[in-house]
Amino acid sequence: MANNRTFTMIKPDAFGAGNSGAILKMIEEAGFKIVAMKATKLSPEMAGKFYEVHSERPFYAALCAYMSSGPILPVILEKDNAVEDFRKLIGATNPADAAEGTIRKIFATSIEANAVHGSDSDENAAIEGNFFFSQFERVL
Ligand code: CMP
Repeated sequence: MANNRTFTMIKPDAFGAGNSGAILKMIEEAGFKIVAMKATKLSPEMAGKFYEVHSERPFYAALCAYMSSGPILPVILEKDNAVEDFRKLIGATNPADAAEGTIRKIFATSIEANAVHGSDSDENAAIEGNFFFSQFERVL
């Protein structure tokens, strides 16, 4: 399975704006298969756990508050070269720097409310997918 799965979350800004369907359409049209997906809402504690790697960063508290402010859509995706191809599809973290046609360029409103998360490595994709989903919640 190495190299063929990644993890994403549609974040509270995009979910709340009703952009989940349009974003999933772009993801599927780019060749990604949905392995697992659900709508859920993080507590501030769970958001803190998910983003623990950023706990020393100045934006950590705001990020945890934001990520627990509304519903999200965590998704495991499958495709060859999934992590790299997905990061190209979503664009830079800050939508001001994101390339034209990328998901963040189209849907994100700020570096914090940046529409979607995308794993930065195969290892983190597995860790992040396991954070939200058991093996029984995966269809592939
Ligand atoms: P994400 O890819 O989910 O990973 C960490 C998140 O922290 C990032 O997207 C941004 O939404 C958020 N964030 C908020 N402020 C910053 C910042 N100054 N630099 C990087 N990430 C930030």
